[in-house]
Amino acid sequence: MTAKKGSMASMPNAIPRRRTSSISQARSPRIVRRLAHDPTADAQRLLDGLLRKPAQLEPKYFYDAQGSALFSAICELDEYYPAHAEKQIFQVYRDSILARLPRRAQWIDLGCGDGKKSRNWLPLVRPRRFVGIDCAEGWLRETVVGIAADYPGLEVVGVTTDLSDPPPLASLLAERPECAPIFFYPGSSIGNFTPDRARELLRSLCHLSGNNGVLLIGIDLIKDKSTLHAAYDDALGVSAAFNRNILRVVNRHLGADLNPARFAHQAVVNEALGRVEMQLVATERHNVRFTAPRLSVRSFDAGECITTEYSYKYSIPGFAALLANAGFSRQNVWTNSSEGYAVFLAAP
Ligand code: TRP
Repeated sequence: MTAKKGSMASMPNAIPRRRTSSISQARSPRIVRRLAHDPTADAQRLLDGLLRKPAQLEPKYFYDAQGSALFSAICELDEYYPAHAEKQIFQVYRDSILARLPRRAQWIDLGCGDGKKSRNWLPLVRPRRFVGIDCAEGWLRETVVGIAADYPGLEVVGVTTDLSDPPPLASLLAERPECAPIFFYPGSSIGNFTPDRARELLRSLCHLSGNNGVLLIGIDLIKDKSTLHAAYDDALGVSAAFNRNILRVVNRHLGADLNPARFAHQAVVNEALGRVEMQLVATERHNVRFTAPRLSVRSFDAGECITTEYSYKYSIPGFAALLANAGFSRQNVWTNSSEGYAVFLAAP
């Protein structure tokens, strides 16, 4: 204990310093709240999903501080190939992607998280404006403040919204009609929507793209069952921890006593539906108590499941057709060497 304290005190530079000088020079970023924020209605929906049989949760509840840290750890796992494959494609095909992006653009990161993925592109693309979108406001604020500090002269806007409804971005984008939008949607996050909902989201992005806008999007491809299973149920148990952490988040929202120790993580590869199904399986029969927004009790039988997320996988022609159907008629696609992942650049 003492040794630790001593070594920290002798290494003040080990603590990352905030670049206060550049923060004060930069315009402080604007935060726009577009989350239809009705905490009671949200809690009601959340509770209804849990009382239903089979029980279902919305994946947006994964991402509290702990969940965000666990997801970052997932992206470092050997088994979680989508993160590595996408990074490789962006590195290998950087110049040909860049050559097809509009100049003097507005760069819109759909689910920016810590902003790391956008930061790889910003110095190369040199957009006029950065719009970071995320449902977690605390995280979003930190990300946009950091980007504004590191790119003085770049207009930075943070928007809190989730993408489950058409993103309310039209008026924001119309403020800069001279800046073509580049929608950046990496990580195969589109796979967390059902194909119908995915098409709706793509349609609204196509509409928002106007004449000169583009969509740069990462897509995980259908592949063998064992690779998929390992990616979502890794040897270290990080995926399991990430999945079970959602129960702690739900406890805070619903004053509930869901016990993560009584649920096991399960990733089911459903080949017929082309998706991986993330579930939490009750390991024994027990009751769970909810105190908000109303008192309720639900019993779980041993083996009963809570579905937390679907992760749909596509074929290249399948996703190209979905894009075309949503109005994106011009398309480029790049894949990695094993063809397990694809990056599309699409324009109306
Ligand atoms: N959006 C991620 C994906 O579909 C979520 C995810 C990765 C996930 N690993 C997980 C969700 C494990 C639950 C459990 O790839």
